[in-house]
Amino acid sequence: MRQPLIAGNWKMNGTKASVERLLAGVVGGAGSIQHSEMAVCPPFPFLQMAEQALAGSRVRLGAQNCATETLGAFTGEVAAAMLADFGCRYVIIGHSERRALYGEDEAIIAKKLVAAVAVGLTPILCVGETLEERERGDMEAVIAAQIDGIIALCGIAAFGAWELAYEPVWAIGTGKTATPAQAQEVHAFIRARLAAQDAVVAQKIRILYGGSMKGSNAPELLSQPDIDGGLIGGAALNADEFLAIARAGDAAANT
Ligand code: 13P
Repeated sequence: MRQPLIAGNWKMNGTKASVERLLAGVVGGAGSIQHSEMAVCPPFPFLQMAEQALAGSRVRLGAQNCATETLGAFTGEVAAAMLADFGCRYVIIGHSERRALYGEDEAIIAKKLVAAVAVGLTPILCVGETLEERERGDMEAVIAAQIDGIIALCGIAAFGAWELAYEPVWAIGTGKTATPAQAQEVHAFIRARLAAQDAVVAQKIRILYGGSMKGSNAPELLSQPDIDGGLIGGAALNADEFLAIARAGDAAANT
């Protein structure tokens, strides 16, 4: 049984005041969570505040992106080493918003994965298809290409140190969730794709689901055999919703 990971991707949201309240809410409720691992990924300016608020709690810290390069003249970029210095354990890499809006391709994503692991961070690598790709019947081909592209650049063994997230682009921020059966089918496909190269890595790796997950739909999603957690956007901005998802992870871990 893989321990559920419930990670909040706060995206580009928050003010000092709202982030302080959200962190206090999550930390305040974290004591009631038994099995699920929890992490929050705030925007960069709030990392220090989050590091302090999470100190001594079981909630881990992550970031939403990192630079491909390690240090130096890269205006506007944030190095993986800086994230580690601020107490991050996780970094989200290859989110569909970064692929679509900032032109991140497999080569860029692979460099970020390498940069993150080099400083001891655990990447959460995101994959997923658009609605158009799904409706064309290309869903498996798209996801296979995303996975195979990274295997070609980084090697299958590297996946042993990462988390994966399956985020169907059509379910992100739309209120449309993949049904538990739809999500399970893709998660099983991803695991089988990895297993064809390395069965041990495939069994070990956690594959999170992301896309309009919330307290009400989390129990059924998280009880699927190949869904090992959630990468939560909108619902992670509400401490009670986020904690409800973590509780659903607890319940799934107990079954
Ligand atoms: P929503 O939960 O808002 O759909 O976002 C999902 C996501 O993109 C998490 O990375």
